[in-house]
Amino acid sequence: MTAEGSDFVVVANRLPVDLDTAPDGSRRWKRSPGGLVTALEPILRSNNGAWVGWPGVPDVEVEPFEDDGLELVPVPLSEREVADYYEGFSNATLWPLYHDVIVRPVYDRTWWEAYVEVNRRFAEATSTAAAQNATVWIQDYQLQLVPKMLRMLRPDLTIGFFLHIPFPPVELFMQMPWRTEIVEGLLGADLIGFHLPGGAQNFLYLSRRLAGQPTSRGNIGVRSKLGVVQVGFRTVRVGAFPISIDSGEMDEKSKRKSIRDRAREIRTELGDPKVIMLGVDRLDYTKGIDVRLGAFHELLLSEKVDPEDVVMIQVATPSRERVESYRHMRGEIESKVGRINGEFGRVGHPVVHYLHRPIPREELIAYYVAADVMLVTPIRDGMNLVAKEYVACRSDLGGALVLSEFTGAAAELRQAYQCNPHDLDNVADAMMAAIEQDAEDGRRHMRAMRRQVLAHDVDRWARSFLAALDRTGEDTAPTQLV
Ligand code: ADP
Ligand code: F6P
Repeated sequence: MTAEGSDFVVVANRLPVDLDTAPDGSRRWKRSPGGLVTALEPILRSNNGAWVGWPGVPDVEVEPFEDDGLELVPVPLSEREVADYYEGFSNATLWPLYHDVIVRPVYDRTWWEAYVEVNRRFAEATSTAAAQNATVWIQDYQLQLVPKMLRMLRPDLTIGFFLHIPFPPVELFMQMPWRTEIVEGLLGADLIGFHLPGGAQNFLYLSRRLAGQPTSRGNIGVRSKLGVVQVGFRTVRVGAFPISIDSGEMDEKSKRKSIRDRAREIRTELGDPKVIMLGVDRLDYTKGIDVRLGAFHELLLSEKVDPEDVVMIQVATPSRERVESYRHMRGEIESKVGRINGEFGRVGHPVVHYLHRPIPREELIAYYVAADVMLVTPIRDGMNLVAKEYVACRSDLGGALVLSEFTGAAAELRQAYQCNPHDLDNVADAMMAAIEQDAEDGRRHMRAMRRQVLAHDVDRWARSFLAALDRTGEDTAPTQLV
């Protein structure tokens, strides 16, 4: 960053690096390998870019610093703010509300006040980091008030916002006591992006109803046909930009001999079962881990699958462990795993292998290559990158994907074994169809899904959003607004 600031600024709840504490108490920055960082890093580097975010631990004050050519601007959060803004309003209010109220959202005034305060701090840090007329891209539900706050501080900026989780149906959004503030907060942006046209359409409706602004009425397309909200003299665009992964990199890695060998080794370690089923998720109640365990249990009970032939691996990364609903769900899942193994496993041969930890990237790719059936069964998920990662890793055209209709990915991966996670029989049927799929049909399905995932990678996602943001300054033909 020069003294004048950066020309391109990404703002996210977390920095692309976390401050990690070693057992000896020393601290160092650990790179988070997320897709967002991978996608945005080249753009940030070539644009004199900066990243504004929380360092991941409470109560640390760190000055902005450069990391490998990238300017990092830490926003400190106190212990109290982590509890109220992050665990509270972000993850016990917004997260369940935006995911179809799978658990009941908690509406707490103190949490809301912390959310406003922290969003203000992010807006101020961004205002300081951005050069005159810079482009700022704000990410996700933790920062929905930042667009408006930042616009008031810096009207010269071009501001984009992308929501990485679903935008809820209007009837659910209307529960939110601070619904108008949130819609108005987002309307501070020049372009607001969602994964799916449905989310964008819901937002247009709420802009009319809650913010009283005229909007376009036509259908919104995928990366096309943007909607429009007129906010005074400003025109805000609204669109659908489904996120993706670095598919080329995953495809390349999955073909390496070391990964192929490791995949074979995993199968041997499991006792050479006929079928390996795999789930990979953050341990979150939205992911439907209980759903797939329930369906597997029924298949075992009805003897449709033989526990000697089929094993399931569930890898679950610990997540938001201090939030009550996450603790509760962990207990339920672990008891279900114990029950299935108690009923159907034998010594040295569990039917469900459960790992409660993140696994290294290359090991994860080997698991994808080894898995005959990938289980992605969320009750609701904005996109679900795991489904796309699995497909990108199957250059052998092997494997089968069981995919919940309630994920954003289902709109793109039409050839998966799609299922309704609320209907256990339907999930069990999809699992059976995947287990018993005809090899030639399987190859055909996988080929079609790979075409989609390889052509639409995360770089294309970022470029399509930023190109649309770039065009927001241009005069366009007037749209009929009502
Ligand atoms: P979310 O963003 O809600 O966590 P996604 O499926 O969109 O869900 O993305 C999850 C990302 O985290 C994927 O890139 C996936 O590979 C990674 N991931 C999830 N669980 C694990 C795990 N146990 N070990 C390693 N990586 C994981
Ligand atoms: O995709 C939703 C999201 O909240 C991202 O913003 C975040 O990177 C990821 O899930 C993990 O969540 P957290 O930052 O709360 O650990």
